[in-house]
Amino acid sequence: MEKQKYYITTAIAYTSGKPHIGNTYEVVLADAIARYKRQQGYDVFFQTGTDEHGQKIELKAEEAGITPKEFVDNVSTEIKRIWDLMNTSYDKFIRTTDADHEAQVQKIFKKLYDQGDIYKGYYEGLYCTPCESFFTESQLVDGKCPDCGRPVTPAKEEAYFFKLSPFADRIEKLLLETDYLQPRTRAVELVNNFIKPGLEDLCISRTTFKWGIPVTFDDKHVIYVWVDALSNYISALGYLNDKYDDFDRFWPADLHMVAKDIMRFHAIIWPAMLMALDLPLPKHLAVHGWITFNGQKMSKSIGNVVDPMVLGERYGADAIRYHILREMALGADSSFSNEIMINRINSDLANDLGNLVSRTVAMVEKYFGGTLPTERESAPVDDELINMATSLREKIAEFMDETQLNNALAEIFKVISRANKYIDETTPWILGKDESKKARLASVLYNLLEAIRISTTLLSCFMPTTMPKVWEQIGADKELITYENAGKFNVLPLDVTVHKGPALFLSLIHISEPT
Ligand code: MSP
Repeated sequence: MEKQKYYITTAIAYTSGKPHIGNTYEVVLADAIARYKRQQGYDVFFQTGTDEHGQKIELKAEEAGITPKEFVDNVSTEIKRIWDLMNTSYDKFIRTTDADHEAQVQKIFKKLYDQGDIYKGYYEGLYCTPCESFFTESQLVDGKCPDCGRPVTPAKEEAYFFKLSPFADRIEKLLLETDYLQPRTRAVELVNNFIKPGLEDLCISRTTFKWGIPVTFDDKHVIYVWVDALSNYISALGYLNDKYDDFDRFWPADLHMVAKDIMRFHAIIWPAMLMALDLPLPKHLAVHGWITFNGQKMSKSIGNVVDPMVLGERYGADAIRYHILREMALGADSSFSNEIMINRINSDLANDLGNLVSRTVAMVEKYFGGTLPTERESAPVDDELINMATSLREKIAEFMDETQLNNALAEIFKVISRANKYIDETTPWILGKDESKKARLASVLYNLLEAIRISTTLLSCFMPTTMPKVWEQIGADKELITYENAGKFNVLPLDVTVHKGPALFLSLIHISEPT
C-alpha cells in the first residue's frame, strides 16, 4: 500500500541575526511531529529554512561592510548549524535567495498581476525600519512602533498591492467553520480584528531598497517580504518549476507551524494567495506562543535572547529539546528559566528516566548475569504497569494530533514514574535473595524492560539522540523499535540480554543564566 503523505513546515527564520531559543523551539516542535509521523509510517516532507530579503538585512550588511549576500550566507549557515545541533530531521532547508525560489516567486507575482489580483498604487503610512512595517496612526503605541517601541517615520511610495477583499468571506469561513486554525480560540479574534472591519489590500512591493526579488515587469520594485516568504511553502515543492516536482505529491501542507506574531499572515494572507492561485488550502495552521525572557517576547530586535548554541553545547540537544517541548503548551507563552530547565533535566531525565534504565539493567546483570531466564511468574501488581504501558501509544496519539506535545510527554513520564513505583512495590532486591523467587524476579525485570522499551520508543521523536542508547542497554534490537510494537507488551525476547552503559543524563548543578 502506498504510504500516506505528510507535509509539515516551520516559518522560515529571518537572517537578520542569529536565531534564539524562541525560534529554535519552533523547529524542534515541528521536528518532533515529523519524526512521530515517520514512525507512524507516513511519507513525511519536513521543510524549514531562512527568509533572507529586506531592508533590515541590506542595512545590517552595510554596517558590517559586506554585501547582503555575504551577510545572509553567514547567518543562514549559522541557523542551519543550530538546527543540526538540535538534531532536526528536515528534508529541505530552503533559502529565499535560492535561484529556483526567486524565479518561482517572480512567476507567482506575474501570474497574480496578469489575473488582476495585484495592482499598482501608492502606500502612505508610518514606517518602522527595523520591523519593516507600515502602521497607521491608531496602531502606534505612544506614537511609536507597536512591535519594537522604536520611532516611526512618515513615508509614501509607489507600490503594488494584493487585493484581499474578494477572499474575505471564504477566509472567514475557513477560520470559523473549519479546523484549520489550532488553537481554534484565536479565530474569532482574527475575524473581529481584521476581517470584520474590512480586509485592507496588502502592500507587496518596495522601491526604497534593492535587496529583494525584482518584479520582472517593473524593475524599480522589489517584491516585499511576505509574498516572497510565504511562497517558500510551495516553491520548495517545485511549484511552477520544471526542475523538481514534489508538488503533486505533498501539497496541500498538512501542518504549518508558526508563532502568534505571524499568525495573521498565515491565517489570512497565505490562504488568500492560495485562493488567488486556485490551489488547495493547507489543512492546519498550528500557532504557538512565545518563549519570553524577563516578561518580554524573546527577540533579536529587543536583544533579550538566549543562545541555543551555548545551551546545546552545554547540556546536549535532547535535554534542551525535552525542556522546551515539556514546558510550552501550544498557544501559551512560557518564560525561559535556566533554573527550571536544570530542575527538569535533573528530576525527569537524570532521576526518573535515567535511573529507571540504569537500575533495571544493573539488576538484570546482578541477579542473572545480564540475560534473563525464560521462566515467568506473574502477579496482580503487574497489571497496572502493563496496562498503562500498552495503552500509552493511543493516549499520546490524541495529544500529538492536537499538537499538544507537552501533554504527550507528561503521559509518557507517567508510565516512567509508574515503573519506578513498581520497583518499590515489587522489591526485586528481596526477591533476589530467595532462590525460589527467580521466576517472579525475571517477570518483574522483564516488565520493567518492556515498559522502558515502549516509553522510549515513543520518546524517541522528542529525544532522538539518547533513546537509541537506551535500546542498546535494554537489549532491544533495532527492528523491535517500531510504532506498531509500541502498542504491544511481550515484544523483547524472553531471554533478553542487557548491556550496561554510561549514565544517559548527568545530574546538573545550577549554573548562572547563560546569555
Ligand atoms: N521570516 C518570518 C517568517 C516567514 S514564514 C513565511 C519570521 N522569522 S523569525 O525569525 O522572526 O521567526 C521565526 C519563527 O519563530 C516565527 O514563527 C516566529 O513567530 C517564531 N518566534 C520568534 N520569536 C519567538 C519567541 N520568542 N518564542 C517562540 N517563537 C518565536 O517571523
